[in-house]
This record gives sequence, C-alpha cells and structure tokens, in this order.
Amino acid sequence: MTYQLALFGDPVKHSLSPQIHQGFAQQFGFDIDYQLIQVSAAELRSRINDFFNSGGHGANITIPHKQAALAVTDQLTERAQQAAVVNTLFIKDGQLWGDNTDGAGLVNDFKQKQIQTHNQRILILGAGGAVKGILPALLATKPEHIRIYNRTIEKARQLAARSGNCDVLIKDDTTHAFDVLINGTSLGHHGQSPPLHPEWIKPHTIVYDLSYGEAAQPFLKKAMQLGVTKTFAGLGMLHHQAALAFERWFNRVPKITLPNNN
Ligand code: ATR
Repeated sequence: MTYQLALFGDPVKHSLSPQIHQGFAQQFGFDIDYQLIQVSAAELRSRINDFFNSGGHGANITIPHKQAALAVTDQLTERAQQAAVVNTLFIKDGQLWGDNTDGAGLVNDFKQKQIQTHNQRILILGAGGAVKGILPALLATKPEHIRIYNRTIEKARQLAARSGNCDVLIKDDTTHAFDVLINGTSLGHHGQSPPLHPEWIKPHTIVYDLSYGEAAQPFLKKAMQLGVTKTFAGLGMLHHQAALAFERWFNRVPKITLPNNN
C-alpha cells in the first residue's frame, strides 16, 4: 500500500519535505507519495477535506496557512493548543487532529547542536506564525527570559502577554545583549534581513534563522559580518519537525541525518 501524504502551503515548490519523508519512509520500508499542494487561503479547508476524504494519511501545513489550519481541525494536541498554530495533520478515531511539531523540532535541533537555552537570554525577531509555533517549546526550556522584537509592536505585545517570562524589545533598544538570537521573520524570503544591532551580540552569541536555504542567508551573513562565529539556518529544525510529524503518522521514530555543517 502507498501512504498518501501532502504539504499544503503557498509557495510549496521549493520544499525539501518530500525528500526528507522519503528518506524516513525508506528506513522502515514504507511506500509513500508526498505531494506538494499549493493552495490559497480560500481553498484551504476544501482541499484538506478532499485530501483526507480520498484516503490521505497525513499532511503538513506551511506558510501562510499554519494559523488558518487550526479552524479546519476537529481536535488539537496540547502543543498545538499552546502554540495556536498547526503544522501537522493526522487522523485519529475518525477525527482530524492538528499538531505542532515546529517548537519541539527546534528544541531537538538545539539539543543536537548543543545550543543552550536554559537560563539563557533569548531575542526573537518577528511575531508571526513561525514565532508563535516555537514560543511555548522554547519557554518550556526555562530561559532566563525571551524578548520579542517586531516591526508591528502590538503583535509582539500580544504574543508576550500570552506567555510568561517573555517581554517586548522596543524598537532600537540597544541596552541588552543576548546569548541566542533567532530570526523568525519572513524577510529572508525577500532577500532582506531584520535589524541586527552590534549591541545585542556578545562573542559567544549564537544566531539561528528559522528559514533554510537562500532565505536564511541575509540574516546569517549580517551576523557573520558583525563577528558572530556560530550561525545556523533552520535545516536541522526542518528535519526534526518532520521526524516528529512522521512519528505521528506512522508511530515510528526515524533517524535524522543532516548534511555537513548543519
Ligand atoms: P510566518 O508564518 O512566516 O511567521 P507571518 O505570520 O506573516 O509569516 O509573519 C511574518 C513576520 O515577518 C512578522 O513578524 C512580520 O512583521 P509584522 O508583524 O510587523 O508584519 C515580519 N515581517 C515581514 N515583512 C517585514 C518587513 N518588511 N519588515 C519587518 N518585518 C517584516
């Protein structure tokens, strides 16, 4: 039997998810067909319902539908409820469940890379769906604090208000330095980087971009120009969130092999 899987988003054509899941499936001898489905917000619900009604086994959701997908589900896992964004769909007892594996995926990648967050000072740039997805899992690692910096400060305020131990960094506040800096804006997809002030950086600061490939480069390059030596794109997070989604669909834990330097 061939298991039907899919990614719903816009754009989806550059996604690495099909290869990653094929690699996982091969580890267990499963036959999968992982389709990339580009879909508008207006069609999201009907396309997801059609997919599962015609035998779909599991799905991922990506930009820009991770928040909208909440409304399509019948049930949410605890971590999807906490994050209020969904990146994984699965069927259980005839109901459509939404899960969020992004946050745990990031934390697992941090563990593998030995990036400490416990008792550390973290700055997150951005306050959109990607940041919402990772915030509860990061807070659960008990950082000293998390500050959120966003162009639209009200969105940063709303996110911080929902989450303990979290506050907002006001525009151009350069009085704080951080141990870990995370770019969660979508600017890299347009070849741009959010602001990165030298005052935020110490010699040991680690800089991580939730994007991967070209989209991660503007921010990571800027960090390197400022002397940061430990920079990472989100390829590891992508693999780890995929592994957790695969586990939901197949009850198997796949091994992750990352390319060199990731
Ligand atoms: P995603 O699902 O990728 O997180 P999103 O929810 O649209 O997408 O969030 C995009 C993030 O990138 C937001 O933090 C957004 O800032 P605003 O909340 O002010 O919109 C940020 N972003 C996008 N374009 C930006 C720009 N030109 N300058 C600064 N921040 C930008």
